[in-house]
Order: sequence, then structure tokens, then C-alpha cells
Amino acid sequence: MSILRSVVRGVGSYLPAEVLTNADLTKIVDTSDEWIVERTGIRARHRAAPGEFTSDLAVAAARAALANAGLEPSDIDLVVVATATPDHTFPSTATEVQAKLGITRGFAYDIQAVCSGFVYALTTVDAQMKAGLAKRALVIGAETFSRILDWTDRTTCVLFGDGAGAVVVEAQWSAGTNDDHGLLAAHLRADGRFWDKLYVDGGPSTTGVAGHLRMEGREVFKHAVTNLAEVIEVLFEQTGLTGADIDWFVPHQANRRIIDATGRKLGIDPAKIVLTLERQGNTSAASIPLALDAAVRDGRIKRGDLVMLEAMGGGFTWGAALVRW
Ligand code: ACO
Repeated sequence: MSILRSVVRGVGSYLPAEVLTNADLTKIVDTSDEWIVERTGIRARHRAAPGEFTSDLAVAAARAALANAGLEPSDIDLVVVATATPDHTFPSTATEVQAKLGITRGFAYDIQAVCSGFVYALTTVDAQMKAGLAKRALVIGAETFSRILDWTDRTTCVLFGDGAGAVVVEAQWSAGTNDDHGLLAAHLRADGRFWDKLYVDGGPSTTGVAGHLRMEGREVFKHAVTNLAEVIEVLFEQTGLTGADIDWFVPHQANRRIIDATGRKLGIDPAKIVLTLERQGNTSAASIPLALDAAVRDGRIKRGDLVMLEAMGGGFTWGAALVRW
């Protein structure tokens, strides 16, 4: 027993009730089901109800993850919410989630790395577990992107959806080998020179209002496959593992073409790729835990499986994490 690892004890997710299909979007902007499906693979997405906030989605996902772990809110000493759509400018959505769950010990904070938020959060929490700062954490990705979309801009409003996913991770002493359960390796990157390729044109310090999402889709696409493959290769080098060793590839669900191209580049069997974007769209920081929950619940991801997570998002930020379930 030589190393503390963050081991996943439970996973859960939540999707708002309202479903917006591509056909629904054709009534709002000049688009077609055919264009959206061909370019992205997306057919539908969920939208939060008026009065339903990011913290509400996060709490529902957290409760499901706690139930899956067989744990109570009082067992948690760290709450981290990865989100780019917080309830308020401050305090953090994580503190609101903490209060709604009735947790009064430990600490809580948000992570802002847009679509890479869940990978950033898991990696940061792991470092804090190793440093002895926390023992059991809720790591949540939760977003209400519907609130920052420009619903007159067909190039962006068709891509995103609302939702939340959560995992409970616990610090456990482990042997320090690739056979351990938990986070085995992770690598994070950012390059702020590209901040204006995917950003929101508002904020407390600039315009004083939340603003709307703006994106140069082609620029994002161009960098995505190269950046994602780069961080995954780092993990393969660190661990000595290869694409053939991966049981499940759980990518951030932005675009089917990005996912397929990344999988091909890394030699990952398409049958091992977990896809949820068809019914959920791009839920930013929520997409990886939503996909994890789907694959655990339908019996694909089982204890002992090796799972590769990867994401890229605004900033640009990107990263990958290798987890043994
Ligand atoms: N419906 C119909 N036509 C559209 C739509 C739409 N919803 N949106 C754009 N078009 C039109 C454009 O106006 C353009 O028309 P024009 O040729 O007459 O000017 C044409 O379609 C082609 O537009 P492009 O932007 O060049 O289309 P592209 O093939 O690049 O696809 C897309 C756009 C899907 C956004 C693609 O660039 C992409 O997926 N980029 C990655 C962006 C992404 O996934 N971002 C998510 C966050 S980052 C991440 O998570 C990785």
C-alpha cells in the first residue's frame, strides 16, 4: 500500500424533462435535421425549465451518485462543481450544492474549464486527496448552456444541451500499479492564445451581463483531434498502456466526427466508444459523467474496467484521465 488513489464509489446523472429535437430547432432558426445530424451526430438535447438552475441539476446528479455509492451527504468532505454556467457570479455553485445537500463540513469550490471541466475537476480533486485535504468527494459536472446560447445563431444553438453528472470518489491506499482501482494517470493542458475561438461575450468585469456563447467552429474542430490525441499519448507513455488495453473510451460529447477521428488516430475499437451526444447534445462539463452513468447503468462499464476520459473546450483547455473502475 504505497499510494493514495481516488477510487470511484458511485456515479449518477440528471437530465431536465424538456427535450428539444432537431425538428423543434427548425422552428427557431434556419436549419435542418439532416445538416445537424450529418455535421454533429446530434438529434436531440434537454433544456432546463424556467426556475431550474445549474445547482438543481447538480444536486439531482449528486443524490443519484450518492445512492449508487450507498453513501449519505454527511459522508462527503469535498464538493467540486465543474461548470461554465454557475447560478451566480459568486458564491460558487458548489457551495449552493453543498447547502442543498445539507453538507456542513469540509470545503467546496467550482472549476471553470468549460467542456474540460470534469477532467480538470477529477484531476484536481485527486491531487487534493493525495495531499490529505479530503477523503470523499463529490465531483460534479453541471451546465445550463441553454441560458448562454444565442437562440438566433444557428451555428451554435443547435450544438448544446443542459444536464449534470456526478461521481463520488474516495481516497484509498493502493499498491501503485496499473491494476489499482481509481485514477491511474491524468494530464491537463491549456493554451489561452485561443481564448476567442470559443468564448462568451460577457461577464461581470467586462459587460456586467452574462453574455452569449460565440464560436469559430472550424478553428475548434481543427485543434480538437490533435490536442486530444496529444494528451492521451502522454497517458499511454506514463503508464505503458496502449489503445488496445482500454476497455471503454468516454470522450467529451461535442461532435461525432471529432470523437470518431480521435478514436481512429489512437487505434481505439469503435465498439468501445461510449456515445450519448445523439440524445443529449454537447452538455459541456456534464457530458463525461453523464456518459459514464449511462454506460455503468446499462452494464457496459464494470468494476475493474480501464476507462479513458478526454475533453477539450474553451480556453482552449484540454485533458485526459485514465481510470480503473
Ligand atoms: N444549419 C444549417 N446550416 C448551418 C448551420 C445550421 N445549424 N450552422 C452553420 N450552417 C452553415 C454555415 O452558415 C455555412 O454556410 P455557408 O457555406 O453558406 O457560409 C455552412 O453551414 C458550413 O458552415 P461551417 O461552420 O463551415 O460548417 P462545419 O462543417 O465546420 O460544421 C460545426 C460546423 C458542426 C460547428 C463544426 O465546425 C464543429 O463541429 N466544430 C467543433 C465545434 C465544437 O464541437 N464545439 C463544441 C465546444 S468545443 C469542444 O467541445 C470540442
